[in-house]
Amino acid sequence: MKKFTLLLTLSAIVLLFVQAGIDLQQLDNYEGQQVPDYINRDNTPPFNLINNKSATLGRVLFYDKQLSLSGNQACASCHQQQFAFSDTNQLSDGHVGGKTGRHSMRLVNTRFAQEARFFWDERATTLENQTTRPIQDHIEMGFSGTEGDPDIDSLIRRMYSLPYYPALFREVYGDSTITELRMQRSIAQFVRSIQSFDSRFDVGLAQVNDVGDVFPNFTTPENAGKALFLAPPNQGGAGCQGCHRAPEFDIDPVSRNNGVIRVAGTVDSIDLTNTRSPSLRDLFNPQGELNGPLMHNGAFTNILQVINHYSAIPNDPRNTNLDNRLRGPGGNGTQQLNLTATQKNFIIAFLKTLTGSSIYTDPKWSDPFEPDGSLKLTGITANLTAVSPAAILMYPNPSHGALSIESQHAIQAIHIYTLGGKLLSTQSGYGQNSIQIQLNQARGIYYVNIRFEDGQSHTDKVLVSP
Ligand code: HEC
Ligand code: HEC
Repeated sequence: MKKFTLLLTLSAIVLLFVQAGIDLQQLDNYEGQQVPDYINRDNTPPFNLINNKSATLGRVLFYDKQLSLSGNQACASCHQQQFAFSDTNQLSDGHVGGKTGRHSMRLVNTRFAQEARFFWDERATTLENQTTRPIQDHIEMGFSGTEGDPDIDSLIRRMYSLPYYPALFREVYGDSTITELRMQRSIAQFVRSIQSFDSRFDVGLAQVNDVGDVFPNFTTPENAGKALFLAPPNQGGAGCQGCHRAPEFDIDPVSRNNGVIRVAGTVDSIDLTNTRSPSLRDLFNPQGELNGPLMHNGAFTNILQVINHYSAIPNDPRNTNLDNRLRGPGGNGTQQLNLTATQKNFIIAFLKTLTGSSIYTDPKWSDPFEPDGSLKLTGITANLTAVSPAAILMYPNPSHGALSIESQHAIQAIHIYTLGGKLLSTQSGYGQNSIQIQLNQARGIYYVNIRFEDGQSHTDKVLVSP
């Protein structure tokens, strides 16, 4: 009874101190976000609808540097919120050096697209499938299982030893088992939740019947740019709508490449496989600056270069996969739009209206970790333990240094963590049922995690008061 009261008091103290991090009793809204009624494209599979708990786990995974072998790099290192979840580097840095082969992609409205395959070359068949590939990439996050790297099972073992994952997986999936499939589903939910519909384009479209109508909130150049974007070249337009389809601005799934074929960082190697583009929303940040260089090779550092490219598509005979819409009349040569400087500026003015604001600042898409890499997790309702509390005794609590642990299960190892999840020490249990350990820590509350030889584990909080 006394022990129980003490535990309650301890939990209350913990709750008082914790403000930042993840509170499972106060989940952010991912599942009930408003989507405008003119948005019809959605690649959410029926088995992975967004729910607040799972997307919250996805957020933790997305920002967790522990998901890389070196502990240096999270998804968010190359997909930064302030740049619409992209990277301003032409090529992103690997977790211990090296560079990615292509430019990072903005993760904006990935859900609202007909194309369900991902990456510039569409090699991931679904978003779920995409999400654990960077983790298993030798350069990006390092659990590749090749070139001397450990594989993803080794990451999953690491995740079991972090205090927040067994609890989070149990909250979301009913038990604390961590699998690649569960990681994929939760990360995909978080990525699909990143939506941007608060642009001036959206304000305008909501006021008219058709995207082709003059938008009352647009300037004359912006409306002229919209008309050029929407109209096909044989009607005096620039033909962008054929492949980047308003109002989602998602890529036409059958698009072939757009004539940008040079491999990044090479003089003359070519790559004809890049047939996907992220949504053209949020190319610019709210200050009107590009969120990063453009195209798979990051070759264009300003938007005028993009418009100039489409105005006069380079005619490279090696490009056997150029989209027919970018060839000249009758399939001869390449598209020459002959746009005037003024028309180019109109298109640029229009593209700037596609920028929203909330994705750059909304805390629900931000980093939940503390600067030291720990995570404050509160409001857990599911029981943290796999082993029934009756089967384990830990005393005295508060401890003055020594802690006795007794269990019906053979003890394999004991890990001590800070409340934020930082591993402080590991001790062997030598397969015994009873063991005394020394807690040489400063005064405070710690997690004691016990692993048993039968694969089960138990975590409890202990107050250390030397
Ligand atoms: C080292 C930098 C780096 C890291 C770390 C990284 N990415 Fe990426 N991401 C990229 C690059 C580069 C691409 C484009 C690669 C390509 O197409 O070949 C990309 C593409 C993507 C895409 C495809 C978007 C689209 O529209 O097709 C998604 C989704 C994505 N990343 C999510 C993630 C997730 C989730 C993680 C963490 C598990 C992650 N990324 C980690 C650099 C990174
Ligand atoms: C035939 C289809 C097609 C047409 C027409 C087309 N695009 Fe593209 N666009 C693509 C493809 C495919 C990519 C990705 C290419 C790559 O990175 O190699 C792309 C990429 C882009 C990008 C870079 C996106 C990013 O995240 O880096 C911009 C900007 C862009 N297009 C703007 C336009 C504009 C403006 C027009 C009209 C003038 C236009 N596009 C016409 C197919 C097309």
